[in-house]
Amino acid sequence: MDKLFIISFLGMLAMVYGVAGNMAYYNIGMLEELERFEIEEENEVDLFGMPLWTSERGNKVLVNVDSFGAVGDGVSDDTQAFVNAWGTACSTPRSVLLVPLGRSYLVSATKFIGPCQDKLIIQIDGTIKAPDEPENWDPKLPRIWLDFSKLTGVVFQGNGVIDGSGSKWWAASCKKNKANPCKGAPTALTIDSSSAVKVKGLTIQNSQQMHFVISKCNSVRVSQVQVSAPDDSPNTDGIHITESTNVVLQDCKIGTGDDCISIVNGSSSIKMKRIFCGPGHGISIGSLGKDNSVGIVTKVVVDTAFIRDATNGLRIKTWQGGRGYVRGVRYENVRMQDVANPIIIDQFYCDSPIACKNQTAAVEVSEIMYRNISGTTKSAKAMKFACSDTVPCSKIILTNIYLEKKDGTVETYCNSAEGFGYGIVHPSADCLTSHDKDIAVTDEDQTVKEYSVIEQTVTAELEEPRNEDVVHTEL
Ligand SMILES: *[C@@H]1O[C@H](CO)[C@@H](O)[C@H](O)[C@H]1NC(C)=O
Ligand SMILES: *[C@@H]1O[C@H](CO)[C@@H](O)[C@H](O)[C@H]1NC(C)=O
Ligand SMILES: *[C@@H]1O[C@H](CO)[C@@H](O)[C@H](O)[C@H]1NC(C)=O
Repeated sequence: MDKLFIISFLGMLAMVYGVAGNMAYYNIGMLEELERFEIEEENEVDLFGMPLWTSERGNKVLVNVDSFGAVGDGVSDDTQAFVNAWGTACSTPRSVLLVPLGRSYLVSATKFIGPCQDKLIIQIDGTIKAPDEPENWDPKLPRIWLDFSKLTGVVFQGNGVIDGSGSKWWAASCKKNKANPCKGAPTALTIDSSSAVKVKGLTIQNSQQMHFVISKCNSVRVSQVQVSAPDDSPNTDGIHITESTNVVLQDCKIGTGDDCISIVNGSSSIKMKRIFCGPGHGISIGSLGKDNSVGIVTKVVVDTAFIRDATNGLRIKTWQGGRGYVRGVRYENVRMQDVANPIIIDQFYCDSPIACKNQTAAVEVSEIMYRNISGTTKSAKAMKFACSDTVPCSKIILTNIYLEKKDGTVETYCNSAEGFGYGIVHPSADCLTSHDKDIAVTDEDQTVKEYSVIEQTVTAELEEPRNEDVVHTEL
């Protein structure tokens, strides 16, 4: 009921706005699709309803890394034992690859490649630790540590820890010391070219660079995963999603030295629910469009998040000169605490030692909705829409926004950004350009009347009981 209501609400908004503005239909088609996207997530429960291995141990074949000679003393090299255990687990139907509790396994950069037999479970209860010396890293695998690929219907679970031992890598980064060469470091956990994957309960920490990359995947559900690294560790993104579709991240707690979550090119239908982020650089879409590349991200929802002590909150970042688009993003029910840029769209992103020149091409940003976002900002510009002069941002919709600064006033910055706010929007978003400026002047009464219709609708929406959370906790 709730969902139907919101859909009709958006439809009504489009209609009312169209009439009031006496203009062409305000097309927010992708935002409407997003409302339906939420329903899809609930149906996925069955698809992912895989039981815990312990509950049906009888049918399972246990493949314990210890049986393959792993020592687990944190000093001996257990790489070969893991490779051999993987070979057996992957080729045996219904197997459980077990990394037992209470031990620490030292494992070097390794590719775990599928396809595997049906219903593989990777149960990580102990700790898997990376060698800490960059000098000794396998030069053939410079960007990976634990890399899983070509898997279908696999579950990663357990309360174990994946520890990248990254401190020497951070010290060697060019971001820490300009004299160092700029070369990338490994990603702790990668899941690549896979589908129907579930990851539950793991802790990933102190990665050499990014913590958890989901690339070229379809249907991935990540829940109750924790990611942590110091706030000054360079480029240690928490969860990075690239060229992937139908990804759900929920109940994750992430604090790192870079983006808590970053979503880049080729990703669509990404849903984040109940995310705790901080410290870090926020929940980001991008960066996109670097070196004049094409970047496309569509249908992203962040619903219920707490972002604390972060440099950014909800961010979309694109490089000048790029092409492609970000379209259909809904951010809702987000609480900020001491965030430097709580809401930011930056089409002038430049993470380079040399200043970036202004270019005419840009990754287009449109149909972005912010609803029920509140809390404290560290900078006066609580909302920033820094958009390209040649490719403006469009259809930015804001409602029930309340951002404050502990000492001082707040404001919204706009450059070349079109959209509107309704209900409470603080700081005011009057700097957004709107298609119906003329109406606001010539037909003010009519506009006010139309807006009151919208507000009533919004109030009704907020009062609808939300049963969603009850359903989600069953997952
Ligand atoms: C962007 O993603 C698409 C779709 O997966 C892919 O074909 C393309 O190569 C990617 N482009 C870049 C610059 O990575
Ligand atoms: C608004 O968001 C906050 C923070 O996530 C949440 O606690 C609150 O319930 C939301 N309000 C409504 C009306 O959904
Ligand atoms: C690029 O364009 C933006 C927006 O017009 C402007 O604020 C900025 O100063 C320009 N930067 C340069 C380097 O010209």
